Amino acid sequence: MKRWSLLVVVIAALSAGSCAKLTLAWADLKPDGPAARPEALGAFQSQAPITSLEEWTGLRQPALKEALQANIYGYFPDSYQLTVLDHVVLDENAFGGGRLEEYKLRAQLRFGETTSETEIFYMDVVTPVGAPNAPVILIQTFCPRWDTFPHPAVYRPEGAGGCGGGPATGVMTYVFGRYIATPPTEMILARGYAAATIYPSEFAPDRKDEGLAALKQMSEGLAPEKQRWGAIAAWAWGYSLMIDALEQNVETHRDYISWGHSRYGKSALLAAAFDDRISAVISHQSGTGGASLNRQKKGESVKEIVDAFPHWFAQAYENYADGEEAMPIDQHHLLALIAPRPVLLGNARRDVWSDPNGAFRAAVGADPVYKLYGAQGLDQGRLDIWAPGADIAYWIRPGTHGVVKEDWPAFLEFLDAHFLKK
Ligand code: GCU
Repeated sequence: MKRWSLLVVVIAALSAGSCAKLTLAWADLKPDGPAARPEALGAFQSQAPITSLEEWTGLRQPALKEALQANIYGYFPDSYQLTVLDHVVLDENAFGGGRLEEYKLRAQLRFGETTSETEIFYMDVVTPVGAPNAPVILIQTFCPRWDTFPHPAVYRPEGAGGCGGGPATGVMTYVFGRYIATPPTEMILARGYAAATIYPSEFAPDRKDEGLAALKQMSEGLAPEKQRWGAIAAWAWGYSLMIDALEQNVETHRDYISWGHSRYGKSALLAAAFDDRISAVISHQSGTGGASLNRQKKGESVKEIVDAFPHWFAQAYENYADGEEAMPIDQHHLLALIAPRPVLLGNARRDVWSDPNGAFRAAVGADPVYKLYGAQGLDQGRLDIWAPGADIAYWIRPGTHGVVKEDWPAFLEFLDAHFLKK
């Protein structure tokens, strides 16, 4: 696809929700709306209220994981195996001080008795020179990886377009911020973090028909069609695949941080909820299906998201279109499954479509689980008190949907607060 046509597709996809529906509304900076239900530690389905950490990990965590898959995201594979087909060093000193490597990957996966495999996909990793065990920020974005890490050695298929480059970058960054396509890699490296990226559309395309077909092909052995995984779950699994690739032949433990904006903010949270190897999450403007509660929300409803993006979730989620009150679970459960690991929830005041208040209410709802672990949890009573060292750090800035110049410094401040003290 040519660069301009891809840009149009990306902008149209993004505009389908937030941009076209931008209102003049501002998120209230005081917590607003009812508490998250059912309470994270309260009675759930047939289970009595949780009174100990053992009950939380032994009973409640598995029940919530099951309910999230059955009602919202669809099921993860029963088992899988990643194969590193090739691994090469592209540049010993890229981006002002990073070792740049490329991995060629493919995964085999099993649902029931049926096995399948993904398309081949690539991962690029840049690690600060001399710090091979630096914490790794795992990045997935809307843009092909040659936009995430613009470097002449990063594989770019003949004639392929992307999100950025030339005037297209100007349009994209004007609408969605300086870092929408390309993170500040030099800044990340200088602060002591490694970064890895995949373009998850390579195996689970972010397009309705192609996406649904690929998701089906990968999960053919799953019996209940309505609980087939959507792209958000497949991308979440993609974070685990990135870790699998990085862990091969490595003996030292590294910290992994799942990072995602918007639709990838949803999958970055889901990844951490299901994969304990993820040490922290940065989920920016994740909205519906991410950090924001489904019930009594402002912004995007379940109906709006399943209508516009039928390939993102299990069909079962459609049961709650205009019927959110009937949901047995809500998004505070997703955050609670990440406890006690640090999570940053990024928001913007004019991004009411993503419902900053609904995300704050979810954080309040997950907080008792952090406290159960003896962790500090949320450390702010309003949306605009930035506490980067808190375990649930809630960040809100002025402006709209996107990754703008003040976002990455805030993300790194959060990481420094949690990882430098180690
Ligand atoms: C649309 C969609 C959101 C999503 C966003 C994005 O706005 O409605 O749910 O988060 O796209 O991924 O940018």
